[in-house]
Order: sequence, then structure tokens, then C-alpha cells
Amino acid sequence: MEETATIRLGNENHVFPVVIGTENEKGIDIRTLRQKTGYITYDDGYGNTGSCESHITFIDGEKGILRYRGYPIEQLAESSNFLECAHLIIYGELPTHTQQREFSAKVLRQASIHESMRHLFEGFPNNSHPMAILSALLNSLGCYYPNLATNDRDQDLKNFDEAATLLLSKVRTIAAMSYRMMRGEPFMYPRKDLGYCQNFLHMMFSEPYEDYYPHDDVAKALDLIFLLHADHEQNCSTSTVRMVGSGGANLFASVSAGVCALWGPLHGGANMAVINMLQEIHKNGDDGSKFVAAAKSGKGARLMGFGHRVYKNYDPRAKILKVACERVLKALGRNDPLLDIALHLEDKALHDPYFIERKLYPNVDFYSGIILQAIGLPLDMYTVMFSIGRMPGWIAHWREVAELSKGRIHRPRQIYIGPGLRNYVNINDRNGDGPKSA
Ligand code: ACO
Repeated sequence: MEETATIRLGNENHVFPVVIGTENEKGIDIRTLRQKTGYITYDDGYGNTGSCESHITFIDGEKGILRYRGYPIEQLAESSNFLECAHLIIYGELPTHTQQREFSAKVLRQASIHESMRHLFEGFPNNSHPMAILSALLNSLGCYYPNLATNDRDQDLKNFDEAATLLLSKVRTIAAMSYRMMRGEPFMYPRKDLGYCQNFLHMMFSEPYEDYYPHDDVAKALDLIFLLHADHEQNCSTSTVRMVGSGGANLFASVSAGVCALWGPLHGGANMAVINMLQEIHKNGDDGSKFVAAAKSGKGARLMGFGHRVYKNYDPRAKILKVACERVLKALGRNDPLLDIALHLEDKALHDPYFIERKLYPNVDFYSGIILQAIGLPLDMYTVMFSIGRMPGWIAHWREVAELSKGRIHRPRQIYIGPGLRNYVNINDRNGDGPKSA
């Protein structure tokens, strides 16, 4: 018998279907709730709300499971690479030899940006945050390809393949150019003989008089960071991309909004916040114990890189990055005191009732910052790295909305708790110190 859920309101029972996902995760389909009862659901922060059905990523936060299109993240991290996973996430299948060759060639061909976009960089002050630049330039990119960014859903879907590879490629060029601009250094053009991550590192660190050749482990670690960030179902930035896309906005505008959503310290900005926290602890001569005590008391700051809305177990990405972090530091012959503090913090938190009761474990951002620091990236580029990694997910989700939502705009409701009806009062008749005019 088909499973249903009954909601009792007053004396009336209302029956709703239950939707069941591939992995037996269950949801009450309340799409007819308001129409049948006049009620809506209230779910501040959407912790219990499924906003869509999706084919892309599966997470079981209780068990610490993450899969892209059915493949466990551990297997992908071990054997795949970022571009292959991008293909998997966007198109649903691992590429064949021919598909992989064509996909990589398309990404490579798209690496340069239109020369006149250089002037856009010149318009930003030198101390601009690269996330602001990235968001602005990704949106502007659409202006250079008007046939790919029409806001006509059918047209934009028809040209989807080109727009997708273009964004995957140019996001890293824009990121590298913003890094060079901040330093007043000349832009480096991409090279056709380099892979995705090597090319990015070349555009970041080569000089006109000297090519930069990254240590193999450095390029591999960066590829792994991108791969592990490639999708994470309905997180804040991906939901933003879906929301913007649901209004019919083109892919460029939608991912540009995703970058803005990612920027905050509770989301993608956490990787910067972790390093700030570790440096602060180091500066104060603490081994992390005082910081943990303050976080628990509620008087200090939160332990950044800890806790997750979905994972109530170890974030599987953090486990993988912890190992990678130790490997990179060893390969580079570095001994980073911040890693020692991080390991100590983790150990303390994992044995502390406060963190155990709240199921707070390290998340993906806890170790990624230490790797990015070892690679030589400045702090304000960390969230940009996250954006490059998340691009395949944003692209795939935009397409899912464009293809599957049948044009239904995302539009939640609310419970209004402002003033009741009142009549307009002329300014001369208003009493007291009401709001001052501008
Ligand atoms: N340090 C200390 N206490 C914490 C932390 C933390 N990092 N995270 C949550 N808590 C506590 C809260 O104070 C709360 O305690 P209470 O029940 O006594 O009030 C309880 O744990 C639940 O916390 P919520 O804020 O309700 O959890 P929510 O699911 O809303 O937030 C979030 C998740 C934002 C990730 C949170 O854990 C956090 O702020 N972590 C630090 C920032 C961070 O690392 N963000 C990156 C997330 S991963 C990503 O976006 C890629």
C-alpha cells in the first residue's frame, strides 16, 4: 500500500502522499496543503524542507555519506579528478575516453577571456575582495556571449554545453586575474599544454620572465579540493542558483548569485575564518584549549570549520582532506604549527560532551585552508577556490531547474508578524520621534 501522512487540523484529517527517494529518504508531499487547508508550513532556515527532487548528489548526514550521481566520494577522491567529476555531475555519467578528450579540449579552448574584460578589472580598487570581482565578472561574462545568456529558457538550454564548459574554464582565469590585479602584477595568459589545475597555478604564479611549475602534490591537492567541493546538494549557494534560475535567469546570472551566497563565513567563507581562528589561537600562545572553552560557554566565537546543518557525523570530505593535508605538508617539507593546533582542536572537540551532544564534527573547511596556505594562496582567495570547485554543481542544478521545474518559479511564503492594518498619517500630524527622514 502506498505510504501516506495524515495531518489533523481541528477536527479534520488531511491525507498527503509520501515521496520516497532512491535511498529510502522520505518526505511528506504537502504541495496541496494550502489549497486544502489554508495553512502553510513554517520552517525557519529550511531545515525540514525539501525544495526539489534532484538526481545529482546524495548525502546521508547521520552516516557521513556523500555520493555524486551514486558514486561514493571516497572512490572519486581516490581515482577520479575534478574535470571528470564535473562531467559526471553535469551530465550524469562518467565520461568515455572520447567524451573526456572532447570535454577537456572544450574547457581548454575556453580558457582566455575577451581582452576588453581586462578593463573591468581596472575599474576595481586594488583592495577589492576577489569574491566581489568574481561575482561581477561572471555576470558580465554573459554580456560577451549574448546568445548563451538570453533569459529564454529553451534557447539557453540549447546552448547549455557551450555555456557550461565556458564557465568551468573562465572562472579560474577570472580568479587568477583578480589575484594578479590585487598585486599590480601583469596578467598571465593560459597555456595549451597544461591541465586544469596546472594552468590555474600557472596563471596565478608564473612571471613573464619565469614559468611556475607546481610540485605534483600541490596540483593534485588543489584538484582534490575542487573535486570535494564540486557539489553538495541544496546548500545555501546552490539553492540560491536554483532560486535565481527558477525565475528564468540565465546560467551566468545564476552562478554569479551563487558566488555572493557562498561568500559568507557560515558557508564558503568558513575556510578563511578557520585560518583566522587558528592564527589567533597561535598568536595568543593557546593550544586550542582556551578557545574551545570559550566557544562552549557561548561567550567566545564558534569553532570555525566545525558543525554542519546536514552532517551529524564526520564530514567525509574533511576525513579525506585531513590525510591530503598531512601529505602536502610532508611533500613540501613544511611543518605548519597551525596543523598541530587544528589536530589538537579536533581531538579536544571530539572528546568533549558539548560537541558530542550537538554532533559537531570537522567539516570540509577545517583542513582545506591549511592546504591552500601551503600552496601559497592568500587568505582572501580561499573562498574563490571554493567557487571554482562548486561551479559544476551550480551548473548542474541550474540545468535541473531549467529542465525539470516546468517553469515553476521558487517562491516561498511567510508568516507575517508586522503591524496590523493602520491608516496613513500626514507627516505634520505624526507624534514622537518616529523614523527620521533621509
Ligand atoms: N562551534 C560551537 N558551537 C556550535 C558550532 C560551532 N562551530 N556550530 C554549532 N554550534 C552549536 C550552536 O551554538 C547550537 O548550540 P545550542 O543548541 O546550545 O544553541 C548547536 O550547536 C546547533 O547549532 P545551529 O547554529 O543551530 O546549527 P546550524 O545547523 O544552524 O548551523 C553551521 C550549521 C552554520 C555550519 C554551524 O555549525 C556553524 O556556524 N559552524 C561554523 C561555521 C562553519 O564551519 N561553516 C561551514 C559549513 S560547511 C560549508 O558551508 C561548506
